[in-house]
Amino acid sequence: MRLLRTLLLGSVALFLVGCNTDMWVQNKQAPMSESEFFADGSSIRPLVPGTIPRGHLREDGAFYTGIVDGKWIDKIPVPVTNELMARGKDRFDVYCTPCHGRLGDGQGMIAQRGFQLKRPVGNYHTDRLRKMPVGHFYDVITNGYGAMYSYASRIEPQDRWAVVAYIRALQLSQSSSVNDLTEAEKAKLNEKMEPKKEHAEGEGH
Ligand code: HEC
Repeated sequence: MRLLRTLLLGSVALFLVGCNTDMWVQNKQAPMSESEFFADGSSIRPLVPGTIPRGHLREDGAFYTGIVDGKWIDKIPVPVTNELMARGKDRFDVYCTPCHGRLGDGQGMIAQRGFQLKRPVGNYHTDRLRKMPVGHFYDVITNGYGAMYSYASRIEPQDRWAVVAYIRALQLSQSSSVNDLTEAEKAKLNEKMEPKKEHAEGEGH
């Protein structure tokens, strides 16, 4: 019994000795604080050159920048599927329509109602932008363009390509001619146009 008590007291004593505040009052630097110790005056040490955070090794330059050998790529580097298009429309409607409008003609609500800028919101249906390689559009979303700010923090690379694919579809939708249609499609179109034609003729008489 006595032995047990001695052991117990001994361990309590040891435990108390362990409780001192030395570690709390030691010299240290709080994160982001100023330092007199390091020559650059910052307590934070720079990363070793070439350090890459886990999951951030972006080897696929075309996918992540839209640029290869200093040039914008002209082919979307992911498969263009119906899902991609649908996703692109969805993201475009959320992030781009307020300024660019649903057609991409630069007539969004913000542009119409008091968005004061030295340069107007871009219209995608110009010769220059129709001929622009897809990499340029990706670049604009990623890095911004002139008065337009970057969307990199809001739209992931995969979704940026989806938006680019949708912009291309918008451009086609505003610049195609009837002659781009197949004969079957033309016939279908004529069917739909028929009532209108009759109406127009009727008005003439
Ligand atoms: C807050 C308004 C605003 C929003 C939202 C916006 N843009 Fe823009 N965008 C602009 C303005 C303003 C310009 C013209 C910038 C300039 O010429 O300095 C522009 C220009 C552009 C251009 C033309 C670049 C060129 O080469 O002329 C593209 C392409 C474009 N935007 C794509 C997008 C896409 C894609 C989105 C959605 C992810 C988007 N923008 C969202 C304001 C906006």
